[in-house]
Amino acid sequence: MNSLNEVHDEAWWNQHYTTLGQASKAEPSEFLRQNLSSLRSGQVLDLAMGAGHNAIFLSKQGFEVHGVDFSQVALDQAMELAQSQGQSLGVKKQNLEFFLIEVMSMDNIIVMNYLPALTLMKNLVRGLKPGGILLLEGYTKAQSQISERGYPQFDECFATNQALSHCAELELIFYQERELEHQQHRVQLIGRKKTL
Ligand SMILES: C[S@@+](CC[C@H](N)C(=O)[O-])C[C@H]1O[C@@H](n2cnc3c(N)ncnc32)[C@H](O)[C@@H]1O
Repeated sequence: MNSLNEVHDEAWWNQHYTTLGQASKAEPSEFLRQNLSSLRSGQVLDLAMGAGHNAIFLSKQGFEVHGVDFSQVALDQAMELAQSQGQSLGVKKQNLEFFLIEVMSMDNIIVMNYLPALTLMKNLVRGLKPGGILLLEGYTKAQSQISERGYPQFDECFATNQALSHCAELELIFYQERELEHQQHRVQLIGRKKTL
């Protein structure tokens, strides 16, 4: 499971979440918590939701949360955790490489620790309503140089300014790429879709 250059496909992620079990139900992202007030009220689409810690946190804050991921194990863990905490999530099992978001349908989209392919990146900006918010946090290439168990790999990390390159339709609220803490290299972006 942890050799270098392995493919991180659906089976790998299912195995990852099976192995982690309860441990995969980590705390919500600090970046998300700190910037909650940047989000619009309404729905949040959580792309590559994983085991649901961000989604459940947002559900508790009153958002209508829909999570998409191709790992059924992650989705099952998220649903179980949500139910145990009295929260409801809409979940969809889907390979994001083939995922389409209805144009101008979302109040907020979050992408945490996942590098969207080019087509998805364009599609998710289109999928925001005017005034809608994109909140993104991901690994930068420097993280792949120090990944100990083969994740994230180089091609799973954002290149310099890559997250910015499809954000022409967004008014930037926050952007940074840096080592946030020791050996935690991240890009963080919050943007608001320009109104027509
Ligand atoms: C590092 S985890 C991040 C999970 C969550 N967003 C978080 O921050 O904790 C990456 C997630 O992306 C999902 N994923 C990877 N490739 C995917 C794809 N092509 N389609 C759908 N989900 C994918 C994995 O199943 C996994 O849950």
